Amino acid sequence: MFTEENLRKVEEIKKRYPTTMATVLPVLWIAQEQFGWISEEVMHYVAELLQVPFNHVLGVVTFYSMYNRRPVGKYHIQVCANVSCMLRGSDSIVEHLEKRLGIKVGETTPDRMFTLSEVECLGSCGTAPMMQVNNDYYEDLTFEKVDRLLEGFRDGKGETRSKTQDARSQKQEVKV
Ligand code: FES
Repeated sequence: MFTEENLRKVEEIKKRYPTTMATVLPVLWIAQEQFGWISEEVMHYVAELLQVPFNHVLGVVTFYSMYNRRPVGKYHIQVCANVSCMLRGSDSIVEHLEKRLGIKVGETTPDRMFTLSEVECLGSCGTAPMMQVNNDYYEDLTFEKVDRLLEGFRDGKGETRSKTQDARSQKQEVKV
C-alpha cells in the first residue's frame, strides 16, 4: 500500500528508534502524507507493517489531533481553542471563519477546499490567537489577516507563512 519510497522511509525510521512501538507516530505521519487521512484500513496496514497491536495504532490516531480521521479539504484550518488563544479571541476567529467559509467546525466546504477544526494547544501561546493550516502556523490572527489568508489560499497563493514559523523552519517568508 505504501509507495516504494515510503517503504524505504519506514525502514530508515526503524533504524533510528529503539523500539517498533516508537515508530508508530512517524510512520502514521508518512501514511497521512500519502493518503491524506488515516482510515481504519490504513491503521490496520500500519499495525501489520510494524507488527504492533491494532489497538496501539488506534490509540495513537485518536489521541493526537494531527492525524485526520476523515478526509479533509485541500486546506485544513485548525484553530487553537486552548486557554491563551481563547482569552485572545479564538472564539470570534472561529465564528469569522465559519461565516467566511459557510461551514461549521468539523465540516468541509462543498468544493473540498477547506476543512475547519478546533484543536488543543499547538504550542504557540505567545502569539495567540493562532491557527495551523496544513503544516504551517499563522499567528497573531485578526479578522483582516484571516481574510487575506483565505484570499491567498483561494487564488492559489496560499504559501504564506508566519514569522515565528519561518524562524522555526528556516524557510523563506512570504509577506501576508
Ligand atoms: S493556547 Fe493556543 S497555542 Fe497554546
